[in-house]
Amino acid sequence: MSADLSDLESAGAARIGGAATLEELRAVEAEVLGKRSALADMTQRLRELDGDERRKRGQEINEIRARLQAAADARRTEVEEAERSARLGAEGMDLTEVLPGHGRGHLHLVTQTQAELEDVFLGMGFLVAEGPEVESDWNNFEALNMPPAHPARGMWDTLYVRLNEPESTMLRTHTSPVQIRVMQSQPPPIYIVAPGRCYRRDTPDARHLPTFHQIEGLVVDHGITFGDLAGTIETFTTAYFGPAIHSRLRPSYFPFTEPSAEFEVTCAVCKGEGCRTCSQTGWIELGGCGMVDPNVFTAVGIDPEEWTGFAFGFGIDRCAQVRHGIPDMRVLTENDIRFLEQF
Ligand code: PHE
Repeated sequence: MSADLSDLESAGAARIGGAATLEELRAVEAEVLGKRSALADMTQRLRELDGDERRKRGQEINEIRARLQAAADARRTEVEEAERSARLGAEGMDLTEVLPGHGRGHLHLVTQTQAELEDVFLGMGFLVAEGPEVESDWNNFEALNMPPAHPARGMWDTLYVRLNEPESTMLRTHTSPVQIRVMQSQPPPIYIVAPGRCYRRDTPDARHLPTFHQIEGLVVDHGITFGDLAGTIETFTTAYFGPAIHSRLRPSYFPFTEPSAEFEVTCAVCKGEGCRTCSQTGWIELGGCGMVDPNVFTAVGIDPEEWTGFAFGFGIDRCAQVRHGIPDMRVLTENDIRFLEQF
């Protein structure tokens, strides 16, 4: 009878150790330790024995049951761990994977364009500044000479953020708030460009994206004139687009500059002939510019009697579009590998 028991134990232990999945283990456990197991059967048959013998056998059976149960519990932990790592392995992404012919990926065209634009301005003696994409009403509008309810606020279709007072916090509609931040954090002279992402409640089309990028420029120094502004824009255009692209300034209006101008370049898609991309005008608007309005200087505590300056802000995505003759800007956000690979 003892020999039977130890055979039973080693057979049960082998079955438990051999269970490869949780499901298998559950079945084996029922077979080895359950109500219909040989062990249960032996417990039943203890009744046939008497006194001492019964107690001794009963104790042996209990010990075996406990050891087998411990073995099953240990096995469960092992199988669970194995199943978990198998699952992780199957679900995981190999981030080191290299697709033949694709290399390891590269910077997006817009990121490349931003870096090149920064380089052009660094070469002209500007420093790069940055600001947050979520802005206060004061930085995005009020300090830029647009008091609450100023009609010019309508020039920017604004996406507000639910924070603090209603309409007090927004996704910045342009990079101009960085002008305010820079002027508040350092005294003139100032020569900075500020690239970054902007947001407007706009419907995407060939020349517009609701999420786009601008690069802002700000110069504050003694005796800065509109001639300095025009010269800076001209130098930048030739440096970035090359001699085939021409630029022009047209009178315009911005609350934070006076006088203000719009800055346009030859449409690279039709070379100025007129096409769908430029709405048949032959020109593409890159952005706005002008002489810093004295009210803006006053808002940030710079004396407008002593300092003058100019500012500009234009679209980085538009620059990429013009430089590479991209008919429709929406391809910049579609992540079509056939487009991205070309740059
Ligand atoms: N912030 C203006 C815009 O987004 C552009 C601009 C910048 C105009 C600086 C003048 C001076 O439309």
